[in-house]
Amino acid sequence: MKKLLFLGLMALTMNAAVQSQELQQRLLPKPASLTPGDGQFTITAATPIVATDKALEPLARQLAARLQRVTGYPLTTGKTPGSNAITLSLKNGLPAEGYELSVSGNGITLQASQPAGIFYGIQTLYQLLPPEVEGSGLARASWQVPAVNITDQPRFGWRGLMLDVSRHFFTKEEVKRYIDDMVKYKFNILHWHLTDDQGWRIEIKSYPKLTSVGAWRVEKTGTFGNFIPPTPDEPRNYGGFYTQDDIREIVQYAKERYVEIVPEIDVPGHSLAAIAAYPELTCTPGKYAVSSGDRFMVWPGGGQHFYGLVDNSLCPAKEEVYTFLDKVFGEVAQLFPFGYIHMGGDETARNFWEKSPAIKELMKREKLKNLDEVQSYFVKRVEKIINAKGKKMIGWDEILQGGLAPNAAVMSWRGMKGGIEAAKQGHEVVMTPTDFVYIDYMQSDRIMEPPVYASLRLKKVLQFEPVPAGVDPKLIKGGQGNLWTEQVYTLRQAQYMTWPRALAIAEILWSPKEERSFPAFVKKVETQFVRLDAAKTKYAPSMYDPDFAVAKKDSDRVLVTLTPEVEGLQLHYSFDNSYPDEFYPVYKSPLLVPKDAFQLRVISYRDGKPIGRMITMPVEELKKRAGIIKK
Ligand code: ACM
Repeated sequence: MKKLLFLGLMALTMNAAVQSQELQQRLLPKPASLTPGDGQFTITAATPIVATDKALEPLARQLAARLQRVTGYPLTTGKTPGSNAITLSLKNGLPAEGYELSVSGNGITLQASQPAGIFYGIQTLYQLLPPEVEGSGLARASWQVPAVNITDQPRFGWRGLMLDVSRHFFTKEEVKRYIDDMVKYKFNILHWHLTDDQGWRIEIKSYPKLTSVGAWRVEKTGTFGNFIPPTPDEPRNYGGFYTQDDIREIVQYAKERYVEIVPEIDVPGHSLAAIAAYPELTCTPGKYAVSSGDRFMVWPGGGQHFYGLVDNSLCPAKEEVYTFLDKVFGEVAQLFPFGYIHMGGDETARNFWEKSPAIKELMKREKLKNLDEVQSYFVKRVEKIINAKGKKMIGWDEILQGGLAPNAAVMSWRGMKGGIEAAKQGHEVVMTPTDFVYIDYMQSDRIMEPPVYASLRLKKVLQFEPVPAGVDPKLIKGGQGNLWTEQVYTLRQAQYMTWPRALAIAEILWSPKEERSFPAFVKKVETQFVRLDAAKTKYAPSMYDPDFAVAKKDSDRVLVTLTPEVEGLQLHYSFDNSYPDEFYPVYKSPLLVPKDAFQLRVISYRDGKPIGRMITMPVEELKKRAGIIKK
């Protein structure tokens, strides 16, 4: 009897563990705590959606509308609690943005101390529902939610994604769609990179040419950055901008989804679009045009400072530049309710400053010893302007050069060291290091991706830890993934670059700190792939593509090692120019490329089904990588 009881208890415990694992697999980011319950709740045409507090009524309506769209049930919202309902209510004492979600056979209750917490609880509820809830039309599924108790709260308050709308323009509707996608994973900050050399995207009433001139360039397709310089007869009709009404509409749309928007006006570098409109803003008289993706900066490497072929920097020695920035940041501050304005500050080419008599005078007058101090003088004046508009300034980590402005927050991108230095000086930091969260980088072998100068695999993203040892964790506000769009022409490609890498970023920024298992995370990512498919959101299948490592053998032969990122795949390959399938050889150990082979083709399979993409790798490329022939 005792034995039976013991076995029974074991079975129950194991059952609970399996249930817990199954539920965890559905939830991304992982909640702080989860306990499975018994049974499930079924949403029917008669399920009321109750908001016990007026502040939650818009959320009840959002939820009802979304469920109605896919179930077809005429769901109603109300105020009176009852059984068999989905009930949203406020409860004091829960942490900011946190929530408690309880699902049983008798109903669903969701509690939080603020509406934001309810919003995040609703996102979790969607992940507990079948994937069809992500679709846009009626889906035949039974609408059941497994019984569970979840208590959840974010690790960081700044959970961001940055979208560059300058290099390529994304319409108002596309920006809204990007917001829709990010909130599913509990991101709460959209860093909107609104200005750069290739386009000024925000209407500024005091300076109309910023958009009538600065928002337009020649349309080009191919590998951005290396285009043939445009000729004067080519039309400047690619681009666009957001009117102030558009901005207000997007800010409101974001607010309803608990997203704050951080506007970035990138100065003093990256300013060619503004300079094309108002050339007097540079230290260098001349005629300028918005860049159309041709080369105008030089990155010599080998420790040498980069420099500009044209002057794309605002002139720190000119008072009219500060008048300009006062007006621009004044209008920006009016449009965006969030407490921070981003002033860029990155990658300022200073070779034209070096030659400028006005800069020499400024250095003498202000006793500035070098160009770092000139840059710092500029940044400190910008901070005064931004603070005078009632906002806090944040900038890329170059704002540390020559001395940090007194109240500035730092966005650390060239690794973590700028963030560490800023935090040690007592400043707030947002961590966005290139090596972990630059989602503009390639995510598979470079043969498979639009060319970018570096790669970042999903596995590496999951190793991101925003709080470095030895700094006050309170100063690390959080982190974000950055999507620069030089090689991103469309929203579909923006989605592809963002997902699934931003899933790893979401997990790190929301969930409690812990050792993370990549194979376990891959299972959760695959659960989300089904939902992204239902939502018709593009994502990268790059994690199924192997890495190609090469070694030279006998002076002219290549030995290729294929390493899949994901476990449990079979890699089938060919050297005979045909397309491999599951009947082709399986990769087991490094391959010696046959002497006369022209290309290696590889495709990954799992359980007898193709799962990866067909990769065609020219042998010439392998020989270049192995140093057998010149690049
Ligand atoms: C940057 O990536 N230039 C901030």
